[in-house]
Amino acid sequence: MISPAPHELPDGVTVTELRDLAVRLATAAGTLVREGRPERVEVAATKSSEVDPVTVMDRASEDLLREMIAAERPDDAILGEEGDDVPGTSGLTWVLDPIDGTVNYLYGVASWAVSVAVVAGPPEPASWTVLAGCVHSVADGRTWSAGLGEGATRDGAPVHVGAPASLSTSLVGTGFGYDAGRRREQAAVLARVLPEIRDIRRLGSAAIDLCLLADGSLDLYYERGLNPWDMAAGVVVATEAGSVVTGLRGRPAGNAMTVAGPAGLVEELARILEEVDADGAGGVDRG
Ligand code: IPD
Repeated sequence: MISPAPHELPDGVTVTELRDLAVRLATAAGTLVREGRPERVEVAATKSSEVDPVTVMDRASEDLLREMIAAERPDDAILGEEGDDVPGTSGLTWVLDPIDGTVNYLYGVASWAVSVAVVAGPPEPASWTVLAGCVHSVADGRTWSAGLGEGATRDGAPVHVGAPASLSTSLVGTGFGYDAGRRREQAAVLARVLPEIRDIRRLGSAAIDLCLLADGSLDLYYERGLNPWDMAAGVVVATEAGSVVTGLRGRPAGNAMTVAGPAGLVEELARILEEVDADGAGGVDRG
């Protein structure tokens, strides 16, 4: 396990207390969103396309997270899905997804989560160090958390990635973007991957997908187009559970591609994804 370098933690701050705060934040926002879910959830606005929704509760959840962070760690920066970036002076940034799986939340499908992580360094997957994170699956209460060098847990019990025998018997999670053109490309990639694996799962929350990978409920995961808030907490949970998390062609995981799973099989899946240029334009990050 990797521990944070001394310069990555402000004086007197421990990974354990950051992790505890991530858990408190995610569960408090989860309670707010669960209790405030109306019988019929309405779309408050759309973002990147007409099928990329924001609900009133996405905003309320993020507001609560921001208020709690401002009260407890006023010197930290904030990068959240639904609001403006808040600068900080501590070197730490909280990366927030107030509801990951918003479409599931909208339709009443149970797979959605509050995802909270704290990173050192620039809040970008290529250069950050994720120090701690929590993914709280609100509908069923499952809570995964991890701290760098501390391992990962689900509801307090340690979790580890599975040991699938082969790619052909691996259950693979993935997701699709909100843009029709991107989805056409992702469908072509899926057509190449599907015959090579046991089956695919599209559960609708990247944060939960990474945690299911971490506890062995999925064998592998890949997705193009993740934002920092979709992946930050899930990445630390997955890596602390023993997963490799990478991009294609030796690049770090990020928006262009995130592939995760046990060493060996990740490389096998990545080779197939590289063959069909699944990160687009020979690996050039097109957002
Ligand atoms: C989305 C979910 C989905 C993934 C998309 C994400 P949102 O996040 O994580 O599983 O496939 O790429 O954008 O919009 O529900 O926060």
